[in-house]
Amino acid sequence: MPDAQWFDLGPVERFKERPLSHARAGGTALAVSWLHGTFAVVSGVCNHAGGPLGEGRLDGEYLVCPWHNYKFHRATGEGEPGFEEDRVPRFEHKVSGGSLWVNLTSASARHKTAHPHHLARPVNRKPGAVRVLGLSTTAMDAKNPRFSASDELLTHALESAASELKAKTKLIKLNDLSFRTCEGYYSKHMRACTWPCSITQMDPKDQLDRVYEALVHWADVVLVATPIRWGAASSLYHKMVERLNCVQNQIPTRNRVLIQNKVAGFIIMGGQDNIQAVAGGMLGFFGELGFRFPQFPYIAHSRGWSAEDMDRNNELVQRSAELHEGAAALASRAVALARGLLAEESAPASIHRGGRKAHREAARAE
Ligand code: FES
Repeated sequence: MPDAQWFDLGPVERFKERPLSHARAGGTALAVSWLHGTFAVVSGVCNHAGGPLGEGRLDGEYLVCPWHNYKFHRATGEGEPGFEEDRVPRFEHKVSGGSLWVNLTSASARHKTAHPHHLARPVNRKPGAVRVLGLSTTAMDAKNPRFSASDELLTHALESAASELKAKTKLIKLNDLSFRTCEGYYSKHMRACTWPCSITQMDPKDQLDRVYEALVHWADVVLVATPIRWGAASSLYHKMVERLNCVQNQIPTRNRVLIQNKVAGFIIMGGQDNIQAVAGGMLGFFGELGFRFPQFPYIAHSRGWSAEDMDRNNELVQRSAELHEGAAALASRAVALARGLLAEESAPASIHRGGRKAHREAARAE
């Protein structure tokens, strides 16, 4: 071991004021804990995504990372039982002259245990026919299903894509999936919002991984269908969109564009109006993910503010050849654009930031 390099962290009393403190020794971030009359010092940088361990909390002898709750022993730096190999460095320390000192050369080796997730693999499109994903966002009682106008047209668009355009198709109904709401990791720190999504990594029961897999790794075209509920897209749509923040967030935080050469189109069905505002929101979000749009990127239908006879609206949609043709034509425009993009392979995997969200300066400042 090299010669000891003792660093004065400051008055001991300051570190006794709370069970866990963040400290810096030169450029080294530390987590200093005070429990049962003893100090312990380990690295302040979490093995998972670099969270500030010294700003977390103590759970018994373990530090709990404030970002995603990984635990490390406050003295040994080892992960919680079952994950002992996942270790952060620990440091020698001493109390002298009323100060707490840490020996910076005493750091034990950091050892990260990989927690591989299948979604984290590089985005490489497998060869084959163009692939169309339908995302249904309507909510209903699955045991007692009812007619859904948006589902009707989405299903028709997919059937047409398969039969007329020889595309591979897949339908995902958000209503069939059990998934958690976004918990706002981005609000803790921009890098606490991770890809794959922090919830997906931590909760094997969360089923939004199916949407991530299909959207990022599988589809060339994504057709999103939503009803209008009080002037907005459905609550399930917004629940999904919040969780898709992790896909968009890779662009400003990692300069990594996960959505490449992909096309999105929308089917918006409302008993009442506000189609253009709903379409604007959907176009804005999917555009920020990196999707491209065909000319006339959405089809829509509503009966207007004063129409309350929704049973007749269902009948109208079911019987409307024009709306069904419109859905098929939307699929056709989207597939044509996707084929062109795939032939060119033109999409960037990173993006110049000047004038866009999250300048390099912002990233440097954190
Ligand atoms: S648990 Fe520490 S960064 Fe994720």
